[in-house]
Amino acid sequence: MRILKEHCIDVNSEYCPCILAEMNHCMMCSQLQGKGSCTCEWNGTCVLYEKHWNGERTRPQKRIEEVSSFSSVETVGDKTVVISFDVSEALAHMLNKVGSFVFLRRKDDDQFYHFPVGVMSVDHTSITVAIEAVGTKSKRLLEDTSAEIIVRGPYYNGMFGQPWLTTIRGESVLLVAGGIGQAPLLPVARELVQGENHITAILAGGKVGVIFVGEELRKMGIDVIEVSSLRQEGMPLLRKKLKKGVDFIASCGSDNQHCGIISVLHEMKLDLPMAATNNAVMCCGEGICGSCHHKMKDGRVVKLCKVQADFRELEQD
Ligand code: FES
Repeated sequence: MRILKEHCIDVNSEYCPCILAEMNHCMMCSQLQGKGSCTCEWNGTCVLYEKHWNGERTRPQKRIEEVSSFSSVETVGDKTVVISFDVSEALAHMLNKVGSFVFLRRKDDDQFYHFPVGVMSVDHTSITVAIEAVGTKSKRLLEDTSAEIIVRGPYYNGMFGQPWLTTIRGESVLLVAGGIGQAPLLPVARELVQGENHITAILAGGKVGVIFVGEELRKMGIDVIEVSSLRQEGMPLLRKKLKKGVDFIASCGSDNQHCGIISVLHEMKLDLPMAATNNAVMCCGEGICGSCHHKMKDGRVVKLCKVQADFRELEQD
């Protein structure tokens, strides 16, 4: 599978139809964009049907908001901590999925303090995430680790290329992660291990300064190579691995990292499917605020909190 069909991450879920469908701005349904005919090529759920004919039950479902507090805080780098907190069974179950993330803020803070954090792991009702305290919101959350927090979720578009990640089986897979990108790598690795793929991971501490997922990946049976710098050591290694034959790549880290890997693929004239972390700035997560707007190579502007796309089709600065 090489072509990834763009779609809304929430279609077919209990969060569809959403407020965008209510407002006739649905990104899947041409008729709910004010056009005269249907062009959706049927994907399992007719959003128009759900909105108009399915009664009250289809009012936009609100995400879950729960009060919690940190049950553990582990410092893994100068500015990075791995924290755990408990949520309800229902929310934990929904978050146990590749690409999932939550919004976090302190309970006594206003809503605009919340920021997205990718889920690293789910153990019963305990959620573990990694946070790099680099901005106002993350620093505020970590200022008092005994304070109550608000957890809002589930959200799912933390990784691009999810249809590949969830269907690839028995292939040769290369994982590349740097810095805080190690956190979203764990659910990606679990998904690929379940698919009985042969996996090698190239890891660098990046701005976090340490590799904090190496052991866990090794326990999953993944061949882990730790490097001091992705740019200087990781990319030459990537070339060597690609020469030996790789079917799929997942890049967890900055957009610069994703672009570096794409340049190597171009240089080697390889066209491999690639999953990549979604680094868009997100404020609402619901397709409303516009902070995650991004231009595609074909000129369209899409909302990256909702649109599941191929990273290579996004316009880069
Ligand atoms: S985060 Fe608000 S529109 Fe995407």
